[in-house]
Amino acid sequence: MIGKSISNWYKKHGRKDLPWRLDITPYRVWISELILQQTQVKTGTEYFHRFIKKYPTLESIKSASEDDILTLWKGLGYYRRASYIFQAKEIIFKTFGGIFPESYDDLIQLPGVGQSTAGAILSIAYNKSYPILDGNVKRLISRYFYQKDFDEKVFWSLSKKSIDQDDPFSFQQGAMDIGATICVPIKPLCNQCPLKQGCKSFKLNSFPTLRKKRVTKKQVNINFQVIVKGKTIAMTKNNTLGFWKNLWLLPHEIVKENKPTTVHNLSHRQLNLEFMSLPEGENMTFFSFKEALNLTTPKPISDKLLEICK
Ligand code: ADE
Repeated sequence: MIGKSISNWYKKHGRKDLPWRLDITPYRVWISELILQQTQVKTGTEYFHRFIKKYPTLESIKSASEDDILTLWKGLGYYRRASYIFQAKEIIFKTFGGIFPESYDDLIQLPGVGQSTAGAILSIAYNKSYPILDGNVKRLISRYFYQKDFDEKVFWSLSKKSIDQDDPFSFQQGAMDIGATICVPIKPLCNQCPLKQGCKSFKLNSFPTLRKKRVTKKQVNINFQVIVKGKTIAMTKNNTLGFWKNLWLLPHEIVKENKPTTVHNLSHRQLNLEFMSLPEGENMTFFSFKEALNLTTPKPISDKLLEICK
């Protein structure tokens, strides 16, 4: 019942013009899902167009380097997703003979593809019945079935049993769209919702918002060295920190304590960043200001470079 209401709603009102819903190929759906894992649709659309312009097909990304893909990710954040795309396409060509995987068991082996992303790819690219549990769908389920606390097993099971078996494609995209545009976190627009008849939250006029699980973030203090020689600046490619892998950084060291001027949050870490001007040292690679500004750097570093390399 909920399944049919959602897929019928999608056919009438869904955002059918989103670029990954046009010219559907498994490859395009995969790229879009990786982009949308941590990015809103508006920004995601812009990056999706950029990505697809450079690499329109799986074949076209075959020989791309990790740096090539990271460059396209510049400014989007959560750069691990770009590395996952690189690693996954290597696996697709080495293990799957260059054919995009079509089964859950194969898809789930790809870096960056978890249960929910696999479900999204299978339903959108192949119209197969697999559940999804991203933030929007979680909220929709919590409200429709009035589940005030998140329980992984219960939610997956509700997500699975809700699917319209005749049209998983319209169902899943409809569920995402209703979650994103109607069943919004604050002041849901119930009078536009096709599910209000059966929705327990609507009946009770009580709309739970699932509490975010609080992760205690590991504190990492980093001192960055600003070393300028004429109109050049020292930069280093990171391979030592357990994050920002293969991105360009200012020379740096991890310290016990510092006086941060910038705090930058990653999903599991809080980075406390201090920038200090230092004289030139040994074995440093200098880049012209222009080159430095073009390197793929995480946001706090690109902000700093913009300040220095005027
Ligand atoms: N968020 C994650 N996947 C999405 C999709 N396919 N369409 C819209 N928003 C999404």
